[in-house]
Amino acid sequence: MLILGIETSCDDTAVAVVLADDTNIEVLTNIVSSQIATHTPYGGVVPILAAREHEKNLPIVLSQVLHDTCYMMHDFDLIAVTSGPGLIMSLVKGVNFAKELAQKNNKPLIDVNHIEGHIYSNLLTDQRPEFPALCLIVSGGHTELVLMKNHGEYELIGRTVDDAAGEAFDKIARLIGLEYPGGPAIAREADRYTLHDSRYTLPRPMMYSKDLDFSFSGLKTSVYYLVRDLIKSGELSPEQVSAIAHEAQEAIVDVLMHKTKKAIDQFQPASLLLAGGVSANKLLREKIKALHENVFIPPMEYTTDNAAMIALAGYYATRYKLHDTRIDANANWEIA
Ligand code: KG4
Ligand code: ZN
Repeated sequence: MLILGIETSCDDTAVAVVLADDTNIEVLTNIVSSQIATHTPYGGVVPILAAREHEKNLPIVLSQVLHDTCYMMHDFDLIAVTSGPGLIMSLVKGVNFAKELAQKNNKPLIDVNHIEGHIYSNLLTDQRPEFPALCLIVSGGHTELVLMKNHGEYELIGRTVDDAAGEAFDKIARLIGLEYPGGPAIAREADRYTLHDSRYTLPRPMMYSKDLDFSFSGLKTSVYYLVRDLIKSGELSPEQVSAIAHEAQEAIVDVLMHKTKKAIDQFQPASLLLAGGVSANKLLREKIKALHENVFIPPMEYTTDNAAMIALAGYYATRYKLHDTRIDANANWEIA
């Protein structure tokens, strides 16, 4: 089956083509048009600007995809589009674009849950996880532990009660004067930390709570007070920035690992999957390997938002007739 995937849930305009059947999965092209330059001056995503950029970029990215693959619209067997969760104005642009394409070219259309897409980014390789699989989903908008019992069968077993892990990276980066998006910026600064630099201690919120939930807003508040005290004697030095970045990254990863370990002990999954934009984090990628003998980590290029993962999730949803197709943007669509 040849699938055209479309993703516009936040600030990336992405279109991809995936060829999938029961034995093989091949990503034929995967284009992501980033809007980072548009949003950087504002320190975060501005929804109305994101929507405007999607509208402008979607036809351009699609033409590029068709040009690169030499396919025409009539070649596709299925169009898969993200319809939630995400920024409503961004989602609507992608959904309307996909609906129009499907109608004009008489193609079936399936809506894909963005979080489910992130989970399926792990299957864009040759590997197939065994079920039940425990999924740690860590993105800019979500931090969840989900038990995947089979394709399309999910149980939510833990979630953040406030900020998502990616949001914590982004907000802390801003507090210490780093650019947007904060995750890669914090990771880069943390890499520059040496043991000769001062060490700050930040809390690991809810790490020892009995449940499998997370909380990251207290960590951000602690960084706020730390920075406020440090700048009484002048601007933050580059060493102070890297020391805070190092400790913040350690704190976030510690909490994620601790709760994932707890979930493994409790549910004994057959495999462990990492998913979402924060899965690009080197420290997290390294540490999660020690938690289970059967760990899946998405290839770097599929960690952050892309349409290849949406195309593949659309394939599985169609193949296993997992859900009825509504095809309406839904900013709060939960997978479980
Ligand atoms: O999944 P994603 O691309 O978009 C959402 O669905 O939210 O995730 C974006 C998030 C941002 O918060 C970004 O700071 C974070 O992923 N991120 C990282 C890294 N690369 C991206 N966080 C930590 N380390 C990274 N290397
Ligand atoms: Zn995402």
